[in-house]
Amino acid sequence: MRRKIAAGNWKMNGDNNLLDDLTTLTVGQNISDPEVIVCPPHTLLNKAVEKTGNSFIKIGGQDCHVEKGGAYTGDISASMIAETGAKYVIVGHSERRDGHNEGNQGVRAKVQAAWSAGLNAILCIGESAAERSSKDTLSIIGTQLHASLPDDATAVNTIVAYEPIWAIGTGKTPTLNQIKETHDMLRDELINRFGTEGMKIRLLYGGSVKAANATEIFQVENVDGALVGGASLKATDFQPIIDALAET
Ligand code: PGA
Repeated sequence: MRRKIAAGNWKMNGDNNLLDDLTTLTVGQNISDPEVIVCPPHTLLNKAVEKTGNSFIKIGGQDCHVEKGGAYTGDISASMIAETGAKYVIVGHSERRDGHNEGNQGVRAKVQAAWSAGLNAILCIGESAAERSSKDTLSIIGTQLHASLPDDATAVNTIVAYEPIWAIGTGKTPTLNQIKETHDMLRDELINRFGTEGMKIRLLYGGSVKAANATEIFQVENVDGALVGGASLKATDFQPIIDALAET
């Protein structure tokens, strides 16, 4: 059985008050309870690790550079993120792919950089509205998965998040059948490529997940949890999503 994951992506939001809010999150003690990951802005990583300490909440970064260090003004390396005590890093989010011209090869290099620093990569893939309309979703995300994920991916070092770009921050979500279609296809691809390990890699859905739609989305086969943006910015919004996952 794959352990479920509720991951929060704060994007360019959050402050010390939100970190305090984080410590009010709860989860049960069962092994079947979800893993909870929170990815605040990099400026808050140290404090987030300090505040969550040995609790069930794990911390991650939102992006990393491919290099370990050097003349890259404004960037941050995977080893710097790891040094804070964070365990995860999001790579290939559509807001990076689109806003910072990141292609599959560059994302793949970031996944490698994350692994080299001892971080688990949360690899994001997803189609645009135009690609969905032209019925290219499966081929686009199949290519993204293939090209962005290096050959030595395992269930320990990688989590894949399917996030349709048109669903992010819009309040729109794919139908449950559309989510099933994409997640089933991604599962097949992972199994074809990585064998039994491909059955164990967690597949998250992301894009306008909230308390009101979490349960039905989590009931879809091959959805192992969610990457949550807006609804992870308040414990009172994020907690019911964690609870929905625990109850699925
Ligand atoms: P959203 O963002 O939940 O606000 O749609 C999801 C994401 O971008 O990871």
